[in-house]
Amino acid sequence: MICAPSFLSSNFSKLKQEILSINEAKWLHFDVMDGLFVSNTTYDHQMLKTIGEFSNQVFDCHLMIEKPEKYVDNYIENGADYITFHYEASHNPLKLIQYIQSKGVKAGISIKPNTRVEVLDDLLEYLDLILIMSVEPGKGGQKFIPNALDKINYLNNIRTQKKYEYLIEVDGGIQFDTAKMVKNVGCDVIVVGSFIFNQSNRNQIIKELENV
Ligand code: DX5
Ligand code: ZN
Repeated sequence: MICAPSFLSSNFSKLKQEILSINEAKWLHFDVMDGLFVSNTTYDHQMLKTIGEFSNQVFDCHLMIEKPEKYVDNYIENGADYITFHYEASHNPLKLIQYIQSKGVKAGISIKPNTRVEVLDDLLEYLDLILIMSVEPGKGGQKFIPNALDKINYLNNIRTQKKYEYLIEVDGGIQFDTAKMVKNVGCDVIVVGSFIFNQSNRNQIIKELENV
């Protein structure tokens, strides 16, 4: 599996050092929150510009924002490799998926724990990535919600049957035990925040998570 560290739980007063401490990670997960779609606010596309000065990791942008269609250009123009918006925040997801892809950026969609995975059925053939939230979006350090496992399994089965190519990513409450559970049902990318940033041997933890 690929590990995409989320630096939401890192020490922002020494951000460059914190990002460099996970330099072995191939992906970096950006948790963008607008205070509307979720009650917290974090940062916007400026963060991609700042971190882009010293990182060439895959920028995996998770937009927990209202009206994502209004803001995606900011992320396209500042080095996003994947842009994932929320199904619950979009009026025309297929149009936005195709717009993002027309700009040469991979398009993902995310669903919250209470959203049924079947709502994505008609979009699957178009998507590069599906992000299954295994916590309520809005903050790090929460407990893994097991209904994510059925959703990952569902998406993995359809992918196999219909030979789709999307990546399945999971986000929230991932540690060694839950990483094993999601891998067993077909997950490709794990977002890990507090479990990595609460420890000092971060690159070691990343390697072990990728090989559970
Ligand atoms: C929550 C974010 C997650 C979160 C994961 O809204 O989308 O990426 O930071 O953090 P942990 O791994 O601490 O649950
Ligand atoms: Zn996230």
